[in-house]
Amino acid sequence: MDIKIENNCIRRIQRSELQNCFSFWDFENNSEKRKRIEREIDNKIRTMHAYILNGKYVAGMPLCPVDNKTIYLSYLVVKEEYRNQGIGTKMIKYALQTSKNEGYSYVILKVDNDNTEAEKLYKKLGFAEIEKSCEITKMRIDL
Ligand SMILES: CC(C)(COP(=O)(O)OP(=O)(O)OC[C@H]1O[C@@H](n2cnc3c(N)ncnc32)[C@H](O)[C@@H]1OP(=O)(O)O)[C@@H](O)C(=O)NCCC(=O)NCCS
Repeated sequence: MDIKIENNCIRRIQRSELQNCFSFWDFENNSEKRKRIEREIDNKIRTMHAYILNGKYVAGMPLCPVDNKTIYLSYLVVKEEYRNQGIGTKMIKYALQTSKNEGYSYVILKVDNDNTEAEKLYKKLGFAEIEKSCEITKMRIDL
């Protein structure tokens, strides 16, 4: 599913497009990590999705199936200068809709306990805490 927002779109990206995301994903100089991610894309362990604004990749989000009911939304990032404009919200809503369309029942994610802004956003969109350790909170939403 692609979502079009005026001149913008959120869509699944191919591994060949990963290089367009290096300004917000940090594995440009980490060839181990990059190879692992490419392998996971090839093996369908994860799909990568980006917010493309007038041709510029400004946010990204991997979605990883955990089992046949659950998608793990791992590390959503919006490029710093594009934050607080609703892009993160749109990415999360897209993740929920896409996962639901594909027949999944839950989306889960993990957030660092000191990342209060991100946690607040997830709660606002309906995620609830299901587990908490001293560093990380695990959250889930029913689709
Ligand atoms: C967390 C993160 C993804 C949020 O992305 P974002 O695009 O800034 O999120 P949004 O703009 O949708 O929402 C953030 C705030 O902007 C507000 N907002 C939403 N739409 C807006 C708009 N059109 N104009 C102005 N503000 C808006 C939201 O209400 C929200 O405010 P709130 O905190 O008072 O609820 C982003 O801060 C980020 O990349 N952080 C670093 C990486 C990270 O920590 N990722 C999370 C890992 S778990």
